[in-house]
Amino acid sequence: MQNHKRPPASLLFIFGGSGDLNYRKLSPALFNLFIDDWMPEKFDIVGIGRTEYSNDNYRAHLLKGIQQFSRRKGEENGKWSKFSEHVAYLQMDAGNEADYQKIADIVKEKEKEYGEHPNVIFYLAVAPQLVPGIAQKLGPLNICADTKCTRIVVEKPFGHDLKSAQELNSLLLTMFDEKQIYRIDHYLGKETVQNIIALRFANALFEPIWNRNYIDHVQITASETVGAEGRGGYYEQSGALRDMVQNHILQLLCMIGMEAPVSFDANEIRNKTVDVLHAMRKITKDDVKDFAARGQYSSGWMKGEKVPGYREESSVDQHSNVETFAAVKFYIDNWRWQGVPFYVRTGKRMKEKSTIITVQFKKAPNYAFPPEAAETWRSNRLTISIQPEMDIRLRFQAKRPGQEMSLNPVDMIFNYKDAYEESQPEAYETLLLDVMEGNATLFMRADQVEAAWKVIMPIQEAWEARPPLDFPNYAPDSWGPEDAEALIAREGHNWISVPAHH
Ligand code: BG6
Repeated sequence: MQNHKRPPASLLFIFGGSGDLNYRKLSPALFNLFIDDWMPEKFDIVGIGRTEYSNDNYRAHLLKGIQQFSRRKGEENGKWSKFSEHVAYLQMDAGNEADYQKIADIVKEKEKEYGEHPNVIFYLAVAPQLVPGIAQKLGPLNICADTKCTRIVVEKPFGHDLKSAQELNSLLLTMFDEKQIYRIDHYLGKETVQNIIALRFANALFEPIWNRNYIDHVQITASETVGAEGRGGYYEQSGALRDMVQNHILQLLCMIGMEAPVSFDANEIRNKTVDVLHAMRKITKDDVKDFAARGQYSSGWMKGEKVPGYREESSVDQHSNVETFAAVKFYIDNWRWQGVPFYVRTGKRMKEKSTIITVQFKKAPNYAFPPEAAETWRSNRLTISIQPEMDIRLRFQAKRPGQEMSLNPVDMIFNYKDAYEESQPEAYETLLLDVMEGNATLFMRADQVEAAWKVIMPIQEAWEARPPLDFPNYAPDSWGPEDAEALIAREGHNWISVPAHH
């Protein structure tokens, strides 16, 4: 949230160095930072994994990932060979304590080479069940006691439920200081998500009406077209509520719901966002059916292609009751939001890949206009498209040209693509730069993660206690199950799928 500076010398160890996240996201992000001159003058990246690679093979492997997944295609102007000199591979068994000495040795060696002590960053891009074991073996290394320079980055999911998240927090806190722990939620690194703060607090226009007196309800949709994508093993332990709602969606909700921060200090922003979670109404287990709907996709057709149902995906139980869609109605019980529903939904294999927040304002009185003029009257609406379109649009009524007083809604649009020429950094670029700089504003503090689990636990528990009878209950290429429509229709609302221009 602060302006970036070029970070001091940094040494990054990536556990899961031969894994998918590094391949698709981390190494493209680090390379983009290098192209844009944001990497420190002195840096090294050490991928750690069990697979065997020579340094050269490892670099060639990462380059393939970059060519496939980076936002820059073929613009690297020979920079790759310079960058790759800073990349090495360390084959080690993360379960073997003795192997961790190799890490300590590399740190010593680099310290000598740089002529200064670098930031030492441990990035745990590994399956969640491996996190405690690795943290426990890193902790005793001398370098980890350096609360200023040594940092540990933990990917989501952070815990499996409230209890395991609390346990993981206590474990990490015996090894590291809270300020050394960077719990990632990559949604917070997205440009458009950070822009919510600018929109709300850098303008005089919105804040005075950003409350229950003017806002009817808020919707957050994060829909995806992909299915389990070969991640069945992980997803079977997770489901949509854990995978998307507990973290990404609740964080978006916090950005919309938070009070104005008095500074951009990391703890100030995090205090303000965690307040939202604390104010969220706890849904009782008996009420879950009225507040939440779940779904699972069947086999079917997606843009002309036959796709398997969730239960037919690899590593998925053929009777699986795991939800691939979740919709929830939340309330924030405070002065600003009392009585304003926040409807959220997310799902795999849905009609569009899009993340959109809609703030629906209350109706303006329209009695002065003749009824026929007001036929197409719509309430004001602010739509914040997070992805793939990045825009903000404000809907208001306009008079149609002509001799009659006829009204219809039009949009005022701010579109990133038209307004700025600069290309947008990926979320992981912003977040990795933040870690190297030591800025934790966009990372989850222990209490935030736990507060978010507290919000979803009753739903999770009620769903686990009552297996769904109708799964699979939605077709691919749809907007999810009927229950989700019913959830919102009860208050006379309906889901807003995509802005009018799509
Ligand atoms: C991840 C989830 O955190 O976010 C995935 O584990 C999901 O299941 C992904 O596909 C979505 O991220 P994005 O940035 O593509 O919206």
